[in-house]
Amino acid sequence: MRYDQARWTHDADAESDDDRYEPLLAEKNTEEVAVDSPLPDDLTREDLELPALSEPQLARHYTRLSQMNYGVDSGPYPLGSCTMKYNPKFTEDVAALGDAAVHHDRSDESLQGTLGLMAGLQDYLARIGGMDAVSLQPPAGAAGEFTGILVAKAFHEQNGEGEQRDEIIVPDSAHGTNFASAALAGYDVVELPSGEDGRVDLEALEAAAGDRTALFMLTNPNTLGLFERDIEEIADIVHDAGGLLYYDGANLNALLGRARPGDMGFDIMHYNVHKTFATPHGGGGPGAGPVGVTDELAEFLPAPRVREREASGDDARYERFEPEHTIGKVHGFEGNWLVLVKTYAYIARLGDEGLDDASAKAVLNANYLASQIDYDVPFEPFHHEFVASAGDQDAADVAKRMLDYGVHPPTTKWPEIVSEALMTEPTEIESKETLDQLADAFDAVAGEDDETLEAAPERTTARRIDQTDAARNLRLSWQAIDEE
Ligand SMILES: Cc1ncc(COP(=O)(O)O)c(C=O)c1O
Repeated sequence: MRYDQARWTHDADAESDDDRYEPLLAEKNTEEVAVDSPLPDDLTREDLELPALSEPQLARHYTRLSQMNYGVDSGPYPLGSCTMKYNPKFTEDVAALGDAAVHHDRSDESLQGTLGLMAGLQDYLARIGGMDAVSLQPPAGAAGEFTGILVAKAFHEQNGEGEQRDEIIVPDSAHGTNFASAALAGYDVVELPSGEDGRVDLEALEAAAGDRTALFMLTNPNTLGLFERDIEEIADIVHDAGGLLYYDGANLNALLGRARPGDMGFDIMHYNVHKTFATPHGGGGPGAGPVGVTDELAEFLPAPRVREREASGDDARYERFEPEHTIGKVHGFEGNWLVLVKTYAYIARLGDEGLDDASAKAVLNANYLASQIDYDVPFEPFHHEFVASAGDQDAADVAKRMLDYGVHPPTTKWPEIVSEALMTEPTEIESKETLDQLADAFDAVAGEDDETLEAAPERTTARRIDQTDAARNLRLSWQAIDEE
């Protein structure tokens, strides 16, 4: 096997896809190692083939792998709705401090630093969202949605309307997880068509809301980046029908320090801390999606929450407690603790002014980028993200081709209200130079023919893969080797 440049750089001259392949450690030099284990014989092997490699071989292997990938540390990542912010490294330092590693099975008295941080974060998030109480437990935005829906369900059940309120209204522009979370919680999902201006159609909402409405889920600005300026009327319609209003916090980055969902009339919200507060994206794994609610819903939040003891004469100021009618636990312990530490560190470092500045720049960057590209942006005025239309081109091909220009593409084909949608969110972290680089990539692709687009990407480690098959029939490299 060759280990030359073409195998791992983005080299367009590499002869085939295989030329960009980095072997697994197990495919490199291995040696048999005798196993000496105290475990029962039927649970162990007599010997084991392990890679026998020097440190530089190992370091280069992982460096090559990291270079085959693309992330926020490598370049711009304007994946609309996902808010791919750079994760500042100081938050890693904070998370690596000794106290962050304590086990949560210990007593409250011996966990005062940990519990104090949690109480502080609950408070930060409540103030940022305009909510009265926060649970830090859910491990992702979608898990936050599901948790929020269960809280709404518990509320309606307590009012004797649990069975009657069996519908959740979701706008057609909403993220797929809104529909999925509602269905998973056992609700009938009522899809609300957007009005001609891309916002909630008040008449359609009035017609949809009624005795069966448990919840209306909405993000603001919506996924077109448009602020729902009728939000107070929307809240009235939903509340008059006896339903609750849920805020999908994915777009909170646009509002930080300027407006609060609680003040707009939302009753429940989740915070995608990886989007808004620059903590790593979870990928379904170690993320965090805290949930905030108004006072009347606080008693249903997942347990445990943390509070300050009323009159503590000793040093133990903080304690965990179970809300009176809690829906139970939605994750182990207090949630994904280290992600929460990073969230706290990020908010504390930026402070009021920093958060305010972040949202201002997020909106400015999106508007600057949109003004520089050749593609049409049908819905305006947008905030932190915009949805351009690829017109006669196929948005998925546009995205693949942008990879050849060294940038990550936008989200494609969603929301469906825009044909061949290119949903673009540069975030506040990008400089003018990077935004210009992105605009150049958009414009280069806008001028290319279908044949070129369909052949893209040519310069990436992996070429066109069958994304659906890859997601549904996961076949890991080591399985392939085993089969061989
Ligand atoms: C608008 C919107 N809502 C909800 C989610 C779900 O969040 P998570 O990925 O944290 O589960 C996303 C994720 O991209 C989103 O963009």
